[in-house]
Amino acid sequence: MDRYAVIGHPIKHSKSPIIHAAFARQTRQDLSYQALLAPLDGFSDTVRTFRADGGSGVNVTVPFKREACALATRLTARAEAAGAVNTLTFRDDIVVGDNTDGVGLIRDLIVNLACPLAGRRVLLLGAGGAARGVVLPLLQTKPTILTIANRTEARAHELRAAFVRHAGQVLFTAGSYQDLDGWEFDVVINATSASLENDIPPIPASAFAPDAFAYDMMYSAGDTPFLAMARDLGLTRLADGLGMLVEQAAESFALWRGVRPRSAPVLSRLRRKLASSS
Ligand code: ATR
Repeated sequence: MDRYAVIGHPIKHSKSPIIHAAFARQTRQDLSYQALLAPLDGFSDTVRTFRADGGSGVNVTVPFKREACALATRLTARAEAAGAVNTLTFRDDIVVGDNTDGVGLIRDLIVNLACPLAGRRVLLLGAGGAARGVVLPLLQTKPTILTIANRTEARAHELRAAFVRHAGQVLFTAGSYQDLDGWEFDVVINATSASLENDIPPIPASAFAPDAFAYDMMYSAGDTPFLAMARDLGLTRLADGLGMLVEQAAESFALWRGVRPRSAPVLSRLRRKLASSS
């Protein structure tokens, strides 16, 4: 039986084992998928041991995505651009590093939520690892505008500079939250970790177009603080990142197994479970 795992720290609350088990049942693939806690200074040892024990691949989560990028002996273009890896595949003596987070976000928005990005004005909040992983796929959807706003303005500019050669016709800008005054966006994506501190990025209400879509890459049983704020502003098109989580898993599964699972039934089951556990 082929073996896979997700490695992180912490890892207890990871939903990846449930998601991949559901995909395996659905597609009749014979595999096992476990959660592995790696010590903060022991990521590469954990990978090495799992591989030596016959593992075929791993997903990588916080805080090891950059380390996984360094550990891979071959990187896909999207992993190289993100500077982070969430999927490792062991192939003979090669370790392929890929990043499926960006495509997970895009598929969730465009396919699951019917929120097209082409020709729209898109605002990305945050300039950390989560934001970096989605900039290239967002540019590739060809919005008219992609703006990165961040509390520490210099990081927004650095992130823009890293991707500006991919901007093409997209008006690609970066700045602070105050710089958003006078600008309006159709899709606002929260890639900050502010929700973890029960906080919200200080985005002016005027940055949301009247029928804007508010997307939080974090998820929770009820509204995240960011989505609660958007709802208070009267917005009705809101989504958290549970769909992105399922879609990035589906992409990893497809890479490993060569079959694409259907994500919708798995997402709705997870959503029900999350609601009933709150
Ligand atoms: P991640 O990998 O989750 O992106 P990170 O690299 O530590 O984690 O980045 C966290 C992001 O959330 C950063 O953009 C951070 O802003 P700064 O660069 O100014 O630190 C943002 N962030 C975290 N807490 C925030 C808060 N309370 N308000 C606004 N932005 C916040």
